[in-house]
Amino acid sequence: MRSTSQPNLHLLLLGFFFLLLSFLTSAAAGVADKLEKGQNITDGQTLVSSGAGSYTLGFFSPGKSTKRYLGIWFTVSSDTVYWVANRDRPIDGNSGVLLFNDDGTQLVLLDGTRRTMWSAIFSAAPASAAVAHLRDSGNLVVRNGSSDVAAAAAYLWQSFDHPSDTLLPGMKMGKNMWDGKEWSITAWRSPDDPSPGDYRRTLTTAGLPELVLWQVAAGGGGKIVYRTDPWNGRFFNGVPEVARYSNEFPLHVTATATEVTYGYEAVPGAQLTRVVVNQTGSVDRLAWDDAGGGGSWQSYFHGPRDPCDAYAACGPFGLCDAEAAASWFCRCLHGFSVASPSEWASRNASGGCRRDAALDCVAGRTATTTDRFRVVRGVKLPDTRNASVDMGITAEECKRRCLANCSCVAYAAADIDGGGCVIWTDGIVDVRLVDRGQDLYLRLAKAEFAKNKRSRVVRIAAPVAASVAILSIIFGVICNVWCRKKRRILDIIPENPAMGVRSFSLTTVKSITENFSENRVIGEGGFSMVYKGVQSDGKMVAVKRLKQSALTNKGKKDFAREVAVMAGLRHNNLLHLLAYCNEGDERILIYAYMNNKSLYNHIFGPSTDRASLHWRRRLEIIQGIAKGVVYLHEGTDNSVIHRDLKPGNILLDDEWKPKIADFGTAKLFVADESGQTLVVSQGYASPEYQLRGEISLKCDVYSFGVVLLETLSGVRNGSMQTLLPQVWRLWEQGNLIDLLDRTIARPASDETELVYDLERCIHIGLLCVQDKAEDRPTMSEVVAMLTSRTSQMEQPRRPTLDSRAMHPLRQTDIMGTTTIDLT
Ligand SMILES: *[C@@H]1O[C@H](CO)[C@@H](O)[C@H](O)[C@H]1NC(C)=O
Ligand SMILES: *[C@@H]1O[C@H](CO)[C@@H](O)[C@H](O)[C@H]1NC(C)=O
Ligand SMILES: *[C@@H]1O[C@H](CO)[C@@H](O)[C@H](O)[C@H]1NC(C)=O
Ligand SMILES: *[C@@H]1O[C@H](CO)[C@@H](O)[C@H](O)[C@H]1NC(C)=O
Ligand SMILES: *[C@@H]1O[C@H](CO)[C@@H](O)[C@H](O)[C@H]1NC(C)=O
Ligand SMILES: *[C@@H]1O[C@H](CO)[C@@H](O)[C@H](O)[C@H]1NC(C)=O
Repeated sequence: MRSTSQPNLHLLLLGFFFLLLSFLTSAAAGVADKLEKGQNITDGQTLVSSGAGSYTLGFFSPGKSTKRYLGIWFTVSSDTVYWVANRDRPIDGNSGVLLFNDDGTQLVLLDGTRRTMWSAIFSAAPASAAVAHLRDSGNLVVRNGSSDVAAAAAYLWQSFDHPSDTLLPGMKMGKNMWDGKEWSITAWRSPDDPSPGDYRRTLTTAGLPELVLWQVAAGGGGKIVYRTDPWNGRFFNGVPEVARYSNEFPLHVTATATEVTYGYEAVPGAQLTRVVVNQTGSVDRLAWDDAGGGGSWQSYFHGPRDPCDAYAACGPFGLCDAEAAASWFCRCLHGFSVASPSEWASRNASGGCRRDAALDCVAGRTATTTDRFRVVRGVKLPDTRNASVDMGITAEECKRRCLANCSCVAYAAADIDGGGCVIWTDGIVDVRLVDRGQDLYLRLAKAEFAKNKRSRVVRIAAPVAASVAILSIIFGVICNVWCRKKRRILDIIPENPAMGVRSFSLTTVKSITENFSENRVIGEGGFSMVYKGVQSDGKMVAVKRLKQSALTNKGKKDFAREVAVMAGLRHNNLLHLLAYCNEGDERILIYAYMNNKSLYNHIFGPSTDRASLHWRRRLEIIQGIAKGVVYLHEGTDNSVIHRDLKPGNILLDDEWKPKIADFGTAKLFVADESGQTLVVSQGYASPEYQLRGEISLKCDVYSFGVVLLETLSGVRNGSMQTLLPQVWRLWEQGNLIDLLDRTIARPASDETELVYDLERCIHIGLLCVQDKAEDRPTMSEVVAMLTSRTSQMEQPRRPTLDSRAMHPLRQTDIMGTTTIDLT
């Protein structure tokens, strides 16, 4: 057996050797990366870049078309063509050929009848030694001679200077200040037709550099459909997603006398990546993920993301808030009112907003102006094309300069570190709220500042007030005896919970909140304002006033019934509803006041706040939340789905026990069958709820999982779901402990039990955020796993991270009552 098989093996090896040899020689012949003068490339032949061989040049037919084009594509993904030579002059049949013309001044593409379908004219003088080289960056360059230098100066021509619809690392967008030429990317007309389509993306160079997407009009010109925030020195502000990829693909803006351009690089070993604009006007940053066999393009950024990205969505002086979908995305900046209410009613914001109180600024009398600035925080700055920019001055000087110039309506720092100065003198357009946004300082009349308003009232009303005062002294004596008792009954909430939830009159609510005074505001969300209420005995309550604009009619009608349900829910880990007010149009809920604020303040706050939650405490909080949710799901006859679990809805009492708030109220905002609006908190909503509106107990499990992972990592998952892929990566590396918030001390090396519990907890978090609802455990299973070190745990499945789930169009941030702390 053995002796007969040996010769065969030799033969086999020999055959293999020849096979290998012929493969190598053919590789050397067929897959060159250079084309020299005198050689040619015909349809069917290719150039492949050296190194990793990532890019291939050759002939192709796009989509369903049978026409032939010369293009360059990604070798791993041959239908991803990022550069096309003859975009609008296709070749019929397979007769195309690429070669240098005879005198060596052009690289030309000829068809079967030797017509020139495309050419790169690179030299006026003959370049006898012209060479075209497909570099390993994907750049097709022409040099004179074979010296292999990568310096752009050595190139007579390069494809990177003539982009199609794609920006690769090393390419740029912007303007050449010498000759006025622009580098931009232009979408294909359709998947079957690479000729230039309607959308073009470039960098504006008036004002601060901003990336803008133009919709090109048929007869020339066009309009902006989407812009990023200005470059802030490190990234484009309106694109917080950059945090996901800027390490791998560092961005840069070059502003010199010769050019103002934007580009990015890829660090060595980075994934293949591209930025592309497609024929629907969608801009995508994608990276090639070859994990799991086939490989695919993963989206890292996609814009426009939501209605607020539409240019000037809310008109001049409007502010777009993508998380306020229940009412409408648009509102006016503080100090401004809707210019045309009837247009707004029909959801047309193009008229924008108008200033309420005239500015006190008359040219020539600037030194004495009483105008002041109000900061609008966390926004994408307005269009800067008409703004004036001075990078050389400080914010303080900027403010002075704005105040001194009557035409200045707002200013802002130009870069992220607070330096530089942008001054706007006409319309403020295209302002939206955005994660990691900048601060805009809006010039307003003195009357817009509450304190001054009050003092003016006092001045006018002084004589009246004096007589009122005398009267009230007289009345007060009587009242002291009689009213006091009555007042106690009115506004003090009984300590004994058995007495149930009370109804408050609006007068009472006003009296404990100083008539909803601005200094009593402790939180604001899309659907409500939260005030600190002080009862006459000095005890504090949290007063949550639901925004009427956000309430559905059904919600208003069902309010009392929902309150009754909420009042019936009693658990150590639920925030107890003390009272409510249901008068006229007002819908108000009154809760116990929690000194320690919400989990949000502690896990995402400054490091001193974070430090107050040590690891054991965090684990206990997670357990407490889980128990509260189990009670909602299983504790009463009817299971209650919270629908909106998130750190801002979890308050902490004096002993750091978590109290879940806002259970039940979400329902009040959900439009009935016909309505479109869903209550969706970005980053916390499960995929099936976000995409299809399917609501079940498992939606809460998903949100709980995100809250758990955020609590341990101190990182917001956010609308881009940035946290989940990170946890998954650590899981695959077997390094879960690296997830822990780095701003607080790691468990000591001898705290093995704690480390074990933390890892187990993260594992449970991953099980809760499984894509498919049926793969997630129930909340009581979660509690079982959290409370026992020995219970069995399944392995989580790899999430697919559906990109649609990251960019829903229907979105609102329900309440978030305590998420924005204004105190
Ligand atoms: C392309 O090159 C081949 C030889 O390599 C030659 O036979 C052919 O004629 C050339 N085609 C053109 C159009 O120059
Ligand atoms: C190309 O190089 C040759 C000599 O190597 C030189 O004679 C010719 O002028 C060069 N052409 C250009 C356009 O640089
Ligand atoms: C354009 O890109 C968007 C976002 O990636 C995608 O949803 C859409 O299908 C694309 N359109 C075409 C025609 O490829
Ligand atoms: C919105 O209102 C403006 C006038 O302010 C009008 O010109 C425009 O046509 C309106 N747009 C729509 C879609 O109705
Ligand atoms: C006010 O600012 C505008 C725009 O920056 C500028 O054109 C104008 O000269 C300034 N006026 C004064 C009085 O400085
Ligand atoms: C800039 O100024 C021009 C001319 O005054 C005006 O038509 C345009 O609307 C302004 N653009 C912005 C963004 O304010």
